[in-house]
This record gives sequence, structure tokens and C-alpha cells, in this order.
Amino acid sequence: MKICVTGGAGFIGSNFVYYVLNHHADDEVVCLDALTYAGNLSTLQEALKNPKFRFVKGDITDRKGVFDLFEKEKFDIVVNFAAESHVDRSIENPALFLNTNVMGVQNLLDASRAYGVKRYHQVSTDEVYGDLPLDRPDLLFEETNPIRTSSPYSASKAAADLLTLAYHRTYGMNVTLSRCSNNYGPYHFPEKLIPLVITRALANKSVPVYGEGLNVRDWLFVEDHCSAIDLIIRQAKSGEVYNIGGNNERTNIEIVKTVLKLLGKPESLIEHVTDRKGHDLRYAINASKIKRDLGWVPNTTFEQGIKATVDWYLTHENWWQEIISGEYVNYFNKMYGALNK
Ligand code: NAD
Ligand code: TYD
Repeated sequence: MKICVTGGAGFIGSNFVYYVLNHHADDEVVCLDALTYAGNLSTLQEALKNPKFRFVKGDITDRKGVFDLFEKEKFDIVVNFAAESHVDRSIENPALFLNTNVMGVQNLLDASRAYGVKRYHQVSTDEVYGDLPLDRPDLLFEETNPIRTSSPYSASKAAADLLTLAYHRTYGMNVTLSRCSNNYGPYHFPEKLIPLVITRALANKSVPVYGEGLNVRDWLFVEDHCSAIDLIIRQAKSGEVYNIGGNNERTNIEIVKTVLKLLGKPESLIEHVTDRKGHDLRYAINASKIKRDLGWVPNTTFEQGIKATVDWYLTHENWWQEIISGEYVNYFNKMYGALNK
């Protein structure tokens, strides 16, 4: 099987590259990634030693580049992780999100159709369902829920979902879609909550919590997300949509306190800052469909996963120090300029 992994130099895509190379030794993996601020070739350093893996620098919004690559490579499967992925950045610059997350997906779908890709998988997010109220723990996101987005990021992802399903219905394309909750684990870019807290706290700097920190997310260890996608692309029926989640709801403040405790850092580092615009209250996934159809359940408990994640950041300081000393400094100052320390 020859698999194209777009966005494979980012957080989840890179974990997926390693997952496939480790679990399917016969598969060939080609990573297509534009190496935006979120992509990092050093993340793929070990994969690059594997003769079954190749890296191609390219942008999914470059239609000709995508078509040329697909014509040459004749992929069996395409798994699209490439996206602008940070809600806060989408609030600052929606246009970039529409271009990459919608127009880029159109190019991938068209090229997949033109060059006989047998399965196109679109990696999506639970954020397409909007949010759930904090006082209704009985409510969970179901695959059949209506699309009801809040941020330019989630709206762009929802558009890509609909386009993918339209190509299935209209052209009979073989596609699948997965909508996952918040991931955490190795190679997570330190603009997102968990790695932001780890890297700031290690430097004894304050950690920004939006509002009261009572918003809820359903956290899943990244390797469990990878195992779910791997099952879907090999076993799921065309046209299916699957929710993926950890059944692990936590408030943000609980997450921050857990990480500080594991690092042996004081809670006095917490700084409550202005809330995100349009901040979704709660995400919670019902993942019973993927369990029923494909037998998938998460393997890692939150306690195991968060400990492994903190340990990874402690032992991979070179990886994140390089990131936070670059363009990231400007980003941080722009977004959090008013922070105390
Ligand atoms: P990320 O921001 O860490 O990585 C994105 C990768 O895509 C980077 O390597 C970047 O260089 C690449 N990329 C961006 N624009 C590109 C373009 N135009 N052409 C080619 N490559 C481009 O993102 P992530 O957290 O790994 O998320 C991966 C996917 O999973 C996204 O589609 C996201 O919507 C989805 N998702 C993420 C989460 C989460 O918790 N992080 C949860 C559910 C779904
Ligand atoms: P994030 O990691 O950006 O993921 P998402 O927006 O996709 O859920 O944020 C997770 C939660 O943490 C979200 O409710 C926003 C909150 N948050 C903070 O409180 N402070 C921060 O500095 C960041 C980046 C996020």
C-alpha cells in the first residue's frame, strides 16, 4: 500500500507517519507538507532513515504541484492532516484557513479522483458540531448531529467535511471522515494548551488560562487517534463518518493544575487572561459507532498519557526550544502581550 500523508510534519500527522511505519512494515509512506510554522522536519528525523518513507515539500493549495505529485506517485490511500489548526490564529486571519482547509482539500479530492486513489480520508474535528452546554453532561456529540460551527477554524473544517461527502455522493469517490476530540502527546506545537503550559512552566513563566478555565475538552492521547484512523482507512466502508474520542472530559483549569503538579511547579504560575472570542464551552464525543463497527477503543488512560507527554517534553527540550526561540516569540507577544511574566 502506498499512502500519502499530508501535513505529516505536524503534530498528529507525524505521529501517524510513525504509527504506520511501525505497524505496517510493507507500506510506503510519502509525506506532503508545506512546512508552515507548525511543520517541522526535525520531527520526521527518525522516519527519514526508513527507506519506506519519503518527504516532499509542497503546498496543498498549489493545484499543479498536487496534481504532478499524484500523477507520478499513484497513491493507494490519501490521509489529509494538512490544515491550519489553531482556533486563535483563525480569529486573527480567517482567509488563510479558508484557503488551506477548504481550497487545499478541493485540490486533494480532485487529484485523488483524477489519479485513481482508492481511499481518501479527511481528518476532521469534533469542533464542527459546535459546543455543548456545561450543565448537560448527558449530551454528547453524535455523528448525526447537525454542523454548527463557532470559529473560522471549525467553519473551514466543516466546509471540507461537506465537500468530501459531496465528492462521495456526486462522483462516487471512496472517502471516509473522522472527527476527533482534542489530542495531546509528543510533537504537539507549544501554542496549544498542554504543551504551552509545559514549556512555560518549565521556564517558571506564567501560564495563561482563558477566563475562569471552566471550559471542558475531551482529551485523547495522540497514538489512540492514529490507531483509529489506521483502522478506518483499511476497514471502514466508503462514505462513513466516525467520531473519535477519549471519554475523558476535563476542565482547562484541571488540565493546567495536573500538568503543574507533574512538573512540581506551583499553581501561582496560573494567570487568568481575557477569554477567547466565541469560546466553545464543552466538547464531548460519543465514540460508540467506531467501537461497534471497527472494535476501536482508546488504549491509553489520561493518567498514563499525560505522564508520558510531560516526560517526552522533559527529554526533548531541543525540539521545543528551537520552536519557541523562533517566530513563535512574535506570535506569543502579539497574542499574550499583557502577561505578567
Ligand atoms: P498542526 O498544526 O500541528 O500540523 C499541521 C501540518 O500541516 C503542519 O505540518 C503544516 O506544515 C502542514 N500544513 C499546513 N498548511 C499546509 C498546506 N497548505 N500544505 C501542506 N501542508 C500544510 O496540526 P495537528 O494538530 O497535527 O492537526 C492535524 C489535523 O487534525 C488537522 O486537520 C486538524 O484540523 C485535525 N485535528 C486536530 C486535533 C488536535 O487536537 N490537534 C483534533 C482533531 C482534529
Ligand atoms: P487549544 O489547545 O487551543 O485547543 P482547542 O481550542 O482546539 O480546544 O485550547 C484548549 C482549551 O484551552 C480551550 O478551551 C482554550 C484553552 N486555552 C487557554 O485557556 N489558554 C491558552 O493559552 C490556550 C492556547 C488555550
